[in-house]
Formats: sequence, C-alpha cells, structure tokens
Amino acid sequence: MNVGIDKIDFFVPPYFIDMTDLALARQVDPNKFHIGIGQDQMAVNPKSQDIITFAANACHSILSEEDKQKIDMIIVATESGIDASKASAVILHRLLKIQPFARAFEIKEACYGATAGIQFAKAHIKEHPSSKVLVIATDIAKYGLYSGGEPTQGAGAVAMLLSKDPHILSLAEDQVSLTQDIYDFWRPMGHDYPSVDGPLSNETYIQSFVKVWQEYQKRQKASLTDFSALAFHIPYTKMGKKALLAILENETEEEQSRILSRYKESITYSRRVGNLYTGSLYLGLISLLENSSQLSEGAKIGLFSYGSGAVAEFFSGRLVKGYKDYLHTTFHKRLLDDRKQLSIEAYEEMFSEQLDIDTDNTFSDVLSYSLSSVKNTIRHYKEPSPK
Ligand code: HMG
Repeated sequence: MNVGIDKIDFFVPPYFIDMTDLALARQVDPNKFHIGIGQDQMAVNPKSQDIITFAANACHSILSEEDKQKIDMIIVATESGIDASKASAVILHRLLKIQPFARAFEIKEACYGATAGIQFAKAHIKEHPSSKVLVIATDIAKYGLYSGGEPTQGAGAVAMLLSKDPHILSLAEDQVSLTQDIYDFWRPMGHDYPSVDGPLSNETYIQSFVKVWQEYQKRQKASLTDFSALAFHIPYTKMGKKALLAILENETEEEQSRILSRYKESITYSRRVGNLYTGSLYLGLISLLENSSQLSEGAKIGLFSYGSGAVAEFFSGRLVKGYKDYLHTTFHKRLLDDRKQLSIEAYEEMFSEQLDIDTDNTFSDVLSYSLSSVKNTIRHYKEPSPK
C-alpha cells in the first residue's frame, strides 16, 4: 500500500528582519550571516501569535471538509509547548473542527519530533487504510538577543496530511534511525532559552548524518545516484551543506554539482525564515519541490531529520505523478513577500515582549487564527469567520 504526504503547507509569522541589519547592529560583518551562516532574513513573531496560531494557519488552506471527517489522528511535534500537560493537538482539534472520534497528542524530541510523527502516522494508516492523519510541526526558535544563536532563530509551522495513495510523496519503508545521548542543545524546564554548545551541535549533526547515510547505503545497497535530491533539517542553511560535503568528496564533479544544485533549491525558503525547529526539514522539502525544475514524477528524495539530544533519521520517498498540482508556490511567494520588515529596534521590542500567562489580557491581530485573550491562564483564540 502506498502511504505518504497527501497535502503539505507552511505558515510563518508576518514579520521579519534583514540579516544585514542584524549584523550591523551586532557589529558583525554581514557576510558572516549571509555566507558563513547562510541566512538572509529571519522570521519574528509578536506575542499574539504562538505555536497554535502558526499550526492552525498552516492547516487552514489545505484541509477540506472531507479531510476533517476522515482525520482520526492529530500529532503535533513541538519543542515550544505552551502547557506541560495538555497537548496543543487537542486545542487544534477544536479550532480546525476535526470530527470528534480522533486521537490528539503532542510529541517531543527537539527538531526530530515531526519525523517520529510521520513514521507513527504511516504505520497507523497501513493498519487503517481509510484513515487520514494530520502531522503538524510548529515552533518558535529563540536563543536570546545578543546570544551566539541569535542569527539562527526563526518561527513557523508546517502541516502535513498523510493518507494512502498520497498526491505528493509516497514514503518508503527504509528509515534508519540513530539515538545518541549528547548534550549539544537542550532546554531545562523553566528556561526560556536553550543551552547550546554550538560547535558540538554542528559536529554531532554532521557525524549523525554520515552514520545514518552509511547504514542506509549498507542496508539498502544504495548510492547517491539513486536519489534525485536530498533534503535536510535546516537550523541555518550552511549546516546541511556542511553535512552534504562530508559525503560528496568521493563523488564525481558532475554528481557533486547535481546534488548541491538541488540542495540550493531546498534552502530557498529557509534563507528567508530561519530555523523552524521541527518544521525545518519539511520547509526544505516544500522549497525543493516548489523551486526545482529538475525533479520528475517518480523521483526519489532522501530526507535527513536531526533533533539535538540527539536523534537522527534518514528515509526516503518518491514523488507522485501530478504532485505539482498539489503545491502552493504562488501563495508561498506571496506569504514571504508580503511580510513586514522590522527595524532592529522594533524586533528587539517585539522579541522582549513575553506573554504573561498569569495576567488576564486581550489582543488584536490581523491573522486568521491568533490569540484573542488570556483569562485565568487559559489562551483563547480568534478564528476566521465562516466562509
Ligand atoms: P558562531 O560562533 O557565531 O559562528 O556560531 P562561527 O564563528 O562558527 O562562524 C560561522 C561560519 O561563518 C563559519 O563558517 C565562519 O568561517 C563563517 P564554517 O567554518 O562553519 O563553514 N564566517 C564568515 N563567512 C564569510 N564572511 C565572514 C565570516 N565570518 C565568519 N566575514 C553557530 C555559529 C551556528 C554555532 C551559532 O549560531 C549557534 O550556536 N546556533 C545554534 C545551534 C545550531 O543551530 N546548531 C546546528 C546543529 S544542531 C541542530 O540542527 C538542532 C537544532 O535545530 C535544535 C533542535 O534539534 O531542536 C539547533
């Protein structure tokens, strides 16, 4: 049975900063951010937008009434959870008006979470072929003003509907996972920002990729030529390239150039958004599909998922005939182009305004889904008016 990604979309908040402005404000050569890190812009969110509003806005345009009746599981992957007990998936189940007899829960393992969700969804659909599963990756990547990780922040969500006979990507049963207990990036309970060992995180990412790739090659008797493209978890766009270069040295120049060209297409959106944590790999997949003219139906795409801590996984899928009809390229271009650019002063102010969950408050925001108020520590959301 073919199971995979039937629909996919992303959402990012409507504000960004330019990395040249950030570099100048931090007295850094702008080339360090644009070339050394590989980021041109960074998404910024106001306190009236959170992981729920990103997720709901990402789902809004892709779910039909029929989907809502057939979805029997909602999995939210996040490391920016808003409650230690109640899953954000339960709130989204109501906001998105999914039929009641569904399972809704949240999972966590840093940026790897959505891949765990996809594998769980795939197994579920194989057992229950008429089911559809909604997997949402939603996060706010924050390291703090003036921190080493500041140029690698970002925010947003990717929503994926999985089903049998998918319209976009049919997933193979070939995943290779790797778990290693490493403190490269972690966020103890109660801390607003993660602790991060930047060099160790880069090194662990690369060695994890090389390990799962070599194991994949061994198990599947595969080589790079079997793949039309590889998509990576993208904490910043230089990172995936560094990992890729680690396996390209013995390839021909032509092969290196082919794979690096596809990589460039996969980072087009991330260069303008930054790290989405759980959503970054899947934003890279959308970017690849929407910005490459070199992919054909049936093409095999390799996906490298990495979550600090650390769990890594390499798996693959094949593009389905007609997949282009299910992409939203024009809409995404508009979503990115129509965002408002903030000055560094305005970014710092927006960044520093934390939501105080213990003080009742009301909010106004232009988004279809956004926070409307906080009362008795409960977040209430504005919903779009019925069509
Ligand atoms: P840093 O110390 O600011 O930067 O940390 P650097 O000194 O290492 O320089 C970065 C690159 O810029 C270097 O290139 C420099 O040479 C270059 P590289 O050697 O790496 O190829 N550079 C220049 N290039 C052109 N012109 C110039 C110039 N100056 C320097 N003038 C770091 C960078 C990414 C470590 C930091 O921002 C950070 O800690 N970020 C957060 C951690 C992170 O993103 N790690 C990635 C792997 S871990 C991961 O992916 C998981 C994660 O998503 C979390 C999760 O799973 O939940 C983070």
